[in-house]
Parts: sequence; C-alpha cells; structure tokens
Amino acid sequence: MSMERLTLVVDIGRMQTLRGQRVVVIGGTSGMGRGAARAAAEASAEVVVAGRRPPGARAPEAWKDQVTEVVVDVTDERAVRDLFQGIGKLDHLLVTATPPASPRPFLEQDEATARSFLDGKLFGSLACARHAAPRMRSGGSITFLTGCAAIRPRPGLSMVTATFAALEAISQALALELGPLRVNTIRPGLVDSEMWSFLDDRAREQLRAKVRAAFPARRIGSVEDIGHAAVFLMTNPYVTGTVLEVSGGEPLVSLDL
Ligand SMILES: NC(=O)c1ccc[n+]([C@@H]2O[C@H](COP(=O)([O-])OP(=O)(O)OC[C@H]3O[C@@H](n4cnc5c(N)ncnc54)[C@H](OP(=O)(O)O)[C@@H]3O)[C@@H](O)[C@H]2O)c1
Repeated sequence: MSMERLTLVVDIGRMQTLRGQRVVVIGGTSGMGRGAARAAAEASAEVVVAGRRPPGARAPEAWKDQVTEVVVDVTDERAVRDLFQGIGKLDHLLVTATPPASPRPFLEQDEATARSFLDGKLFGSLACARHAAPRMRSGGSITFLTGCAAIRPRPGLSMVTATFAALEAISQALALELGPLRVNTIRPGLVDSEMWSFLDDRAREQLRAKVRAAFPARRIGSVEDIGHAAVFLMTNPYVTGTVLEVSGGEPLVSLDL
C-alpha cells in the first residue's frame, strides 16, 4: 500500500471514531434517537440517552455498558438545565425528541395544541442546545432533527411544517453564533421506527410497499440510516450550518399516505 493511501485510510478511521467522546441523545429512548445512540456507541462513544420514560421501560440493548440512561422532559427547561448540569462536559448533542404532532386541518386547530407542538419541538430542542453548548469540549457539535414536512407541506400538518422550518433556520443561525461549535440538522424522510407503531402490521406493510414503489431509494428509511448520518455530522469537523436530508429522495415524489 502506498504511503498516501495508508495516510488516507488512517485519516478516515480517525474521523469516524468517537472514542473518548461523550454523546448525549435527547429522544434516544426510541426510534431515530435510539438508532443514533447505537451508532455512536458502535463508533466507541460514551453515550447518554434521555427521554421521559424510566430506564426500566426501555428496550434492552447489547451495548448497554457504554450507555447511561437518564430521564428528561424537554418541555421542562429546568429539568433540561439540571440534566446538563448533572452530565457535565460533553462532545456532541443530538436532539430528536418531538412531542405528538396531532395533525388537524388549520381551520379546526386550536391555538393551545398548535403552540404545544411548537413549544415542545422548537423550544425543547433549543433548551437542550442552550444548556449543552457551554459544556461542550472543543470540536463539539449540536444536531437537531426535523422531517421533509419542512419543505413539503401536507394538509393538516401546517404546524409541523412551520416548526421544522423554524428549527432548520435557527440551526443555521446558531452555527454562526456558536461557532466553532458546529450546528446542523438532519431532515429524515419516512423512517420505519416505533413512531409508526400505532399502525397494525398490515397497514405498516402497506406503508413500506408504497414507499418501495415510489421513493428513488426503493425502500423505507431505517433508524440505522439516521444513525449513520448523525455519526457523520459528529465526526466531520468541517460540516456546520447544514441541513442534511436523509430521505431516500422523498421530496422528489408524491406519496399519498
Ligand atoms: N419516523 C418517521 O418516519 C419520521 C419522519 C420524519 C420526521 N419524523 C419526526 O421525528 C420525530 C422522531 O421520530 P422517531 O421515529 O424517532 O419517533 P419515536 O420512535 O416516537 O421517538 C420519539 C422520541 O422522542 C422522545 N420524546 C418525545 N417527547 C419528549 C419529551 N417531551 N421530552 C423528552 N423526550 C421526548 C421519546 O422518548 P420518551 O417517550 O421516552 O419520552 C422518543 O425517544 C417524530 O416525532 C417526527 O416529528 C419522523
């Protein structure tokens, strides 16, 4: 092997490891957050996983000796502050936690429900960033999570579109304000996570089949796809102010759900 090639291999290896780094995943008790927590653990990080459900109610994982499980509700800023005080120094934060969206036509929406989604998702994500950022070591990063509704509105999801678009915009503003700390957002497409567990097996298979037929990637997304993107954003030292879409091409097609 040539010296240049050897150097490249060593460099790539170094960039993808999170050895010796602490990664905090808020929303890591399920779905994409759990997928990202697992990916970070596989990249040798020490992982702190947070959500509202108590540790005893969470799925057991083979990687659990690398993980600390904690409880937090992102809608309670004092609890978020206490959480980060307890965690201390960290390297990377990923926030996937999202309160239920309660889809509803705009004319039937009540303001309290609309505000509770905006508050929980936007201000919940920002509370995590505000209390994590001052504790981040050099080379640290913050990653938020939205969805393709940010750029592809659907009837009944106007608050989701508004909230995701606001979070993507503020993530770029924070990249500027908090640099050299890096701030990015992952915009996932449809992902086969626990979020869809309200569907019975048949309806869930139909959803997968629709996606297979329509999406350029010819399959529904997996939590591993999002975990891979999350570790990339944590480990690439030159990516900031970016919205990384990991969607299988969802916005390129119309999908009648
Ligand atoms: N899955 C998809 O197809 C998809 C596609 C695009 C966008 N999205 C968006 O991404 C979000 C996450 O998706 P997912 O598939 O990972 O969903 P999920 O499996 O339902 O996970 C949601 C996570 O958020 C946590 N959470 C919810 N409310 C919280 C709160 N107030 N405080 C702290 N943690 C809270 C939950 O933990 P606890 O229950 O322990 O609190 C859970 O870990 C979705 O809600 C949706 O807005 C999803």
